[in-house]
Amino acid sequence: MKVMQKIWDSAKKDLKTIILPEGEEERTIIAAGKINDNSLANLVLIGNEEKITTKAKEVMANIQGVTIIDPETSDKTAVYAKELYELRKHKGVTEEKALKIVKDPIYFGTVMVKVGDADGMVSGAIHTTGDLLRPGLQIVKTTPGTSIVSGTFIMQVPNCEYGDNGLLFFADCAVNPNPTAEQLATIAISTAETAKKLCQVEPRVAMLSFSTMGSASHEFVDKVRKATEIAKELRPDLQIDGELQLDASIVPEVAQLKAPNSNVAGKANVLVFPDLQAGNIGYKLVQRFAKAEAIGPVCQGFAKPINDLSRGCSADDIVNVVAITAVQAQ
Ligand code: ACO
Repeated sequence: MKVMQKIWDSAKKDLKTIILPEGEEERTIIAAGKINDNSLANLVLIGNEEKITTKAKEVMANIQGVTIIDPETSDKTAVYAKELYELRKHKGVTEEKALKIVKDPIYFGTVMVKVGDADGMVSGAIHTTGDLLRPGLQIVKTTPGTSIVSGTFIMQVPNCEYGDNGLLFFADCAVNPNPTAEQLATIAISTAETAKKLCQVEPRVAMLSFSTMGSASHEFVDKVRKATEIAKELRPDLQIDGELQLDASIVPEVAQLKAPNSNVAGKANVLVFPDLQAGNIGYKLVQRFAKAEAIGPVCQGFAKPINDLSRGCSADDIVNVVAITAVQAQ
């Protein structure tokens, strides 16, 4: 838990306001108590106040000082509905429809983040990735200069010499099924920034392929090569190289043979996968076979931080994702 301890410490230094829209859900309420007890963030729980306080007593969660907002009764509902209407009227959303949509806690929370009444949001204990990401993509949108949102896993691999003593960042493992070269370049840059911001590591980014520096020819390889060029051009200050096979990226001896002139090969700590199938399978392989801790997905690229949970998450997972979101918001 070394990585998470660092993130907790950062979160405590500058408290941010984080929304938990699944406010009536038991694990969320237990997590709210822990976040409150550890002063990791100021919290807003969305839901019915009586239901939340009754459940909090049942599970002995200290939610004193936590703000509870019910979209059914809040005087903010009409304000947020108007905001939502203005943002989405070009997509056919009417004022009447906006009022109905905004009563959905995830939409309510997303608009709240958008207008600056909160700094970030964490959800997904009882919703799918799409249920959470879609409102975020439609309303909060991407940060200026970033074209897409993507998802990184912070991988902490035990007894491992690769990356930074087993600490690596894998992307995109969660959002974009088949990124273009331009989008892949964005994913690389976003992941480098995430590594710096959350874990204060100096990123060394490998653009992964089944080819190393021209050893194979295929349109898939061309995409990774082009993405590497774009990323390098956009951010000459970052260490990014490719295309590289996984072994050439992380094993110094292999790098020496296959890519001796690369400043990244053999010591990469950020691995950018060519598509979502590779990324999603890749992080799960390392998680299961190497018994790695996989923290995430950390969503990157949103104008304000929004993060997803697995529906199988524990209360402690929620606490950690709130801490990550709070640090992203700093
Ligand atoms: N970044 C920024 N904006 C985006 C992105 C993106 N990656 N993807 C879509 N958008 C925008 C679109 O431009 C659109 O905006 P607009 O309405 O203002 O025009 C809006 O979001 C909706 O776009 P759609 O194409 O309709 O997106 P869709 O509703 O299909 O869903 C989603 C987007 C949910 C992210 C989809 O790409 C998806 O399901 N991805 C895979 C998620 C997944 O299953 N991951 C694996 C499991 S997670 C895990 O294992 C950890």
